[in-house]
Amino acid sequence: MSRLNLIDVARAPPPIKLNRADPLRASLRSVGWHGKLQKNAISAPSPLRFISQPVMCLELKRFMKIRRFTKTDIPQIAQIHRASWIMAYKPLIPDKILENLSELHFQNIWKKNLNNQSHSHLVAEHKNQIIGFISFSQYEGSTETSEISSFYIDPGSAGHGVGKTLIISAFNKLAALGFRKVLLWVVRENQRAIEFYKAVKFKQMNAERKILRHGIELTQLQFSRNIVEST
Ligand SMILES: CC(C)(COP(=O)(O)OP(=O)(O)OC[C@H]1O[C@@H](n2cnc3c(N)ncnc32)[C@H](O)[C@@H]1OP(=O)(O)O)[C@@H](O)C(=O)NCCC(=O)NCCS
Repeated sequence: MSRLNLIDVARAPPPIKLNRADPLRASLRSVGWHGKLQKNAISAPSPLRFISQPVMCLELKRFMKIRRFTKTDIPQIAQIHRASWIMAYKPLIPDKILENLSELHFQNIWKKNLNNQSHSHLVAEHKNQIIGFISFSQYEGSTETSEISSFYIDPGSAGHGVGKTLIISAFNKLAALGFRKVLLWVVRENQRAIEFYKAVKFKQMNAERKILRHGIELTQLQFSRNIVEST
């Protein structure tokens, strides 16, 4: 699917409401959105992407650090996870459910995830602010195949090369651990992520599965790539 333009955004279905204090509002404002969040803005890159991308990419490349995730990162990670999750899934999940997803819910997920020793997590940090994270692990006990289980970029920083830098860092870690392949599952309607994965040389596999998220059944498609491959 090609990238949506501003006209597509303007034709979007009714907006969802976000509380004034919601950090997602601040994130969206930083990428040029004023007013209400449109439901299918999901695939639309920021209107500012086309103007400011080269400058922001250079700035991010210069100052971005990739490092391991620590316990003290949990509040920031939860904030990004929530904002990015809402952006990605709002066309599929009823507004009532999205509006009630608290940061505490995501903090609890990450408290649990950090205790799971089988997963590794990296964060992208820019001037002491976390702007994205990725989690990966061995896939079902395989010594050759790994899996990316979680990958979210702050909506205010998406579309500026952060995801690509972060996923390449994950490939490097996985290669160093001896893995040859990496796979992941992506929700069928998440076109933005699908375009991203194709851009970094993932190929769609002949496998899909159903998952339940907040009582809603979603279909996920499997993508895979060899780890040692140019990006
Ligand atoms: C999907 C996601 C991780 C990508 O990260 P990102 O930082 O936005 O992506 P990048 O800027 O590094 O993009 C790298 C390349 O992917 C492709 N790409 C990225 N966004 C795209 C879009 N909206 N449409 C088409 N291609 C896109 C481009 O080829 C891009 O290269 P270019 O900027 O030189 O053209 C991020 O947008 C995100 O967090 N989305 C919401 C959460 C989510 O869906 N996570 C994945 C769950 S499986």
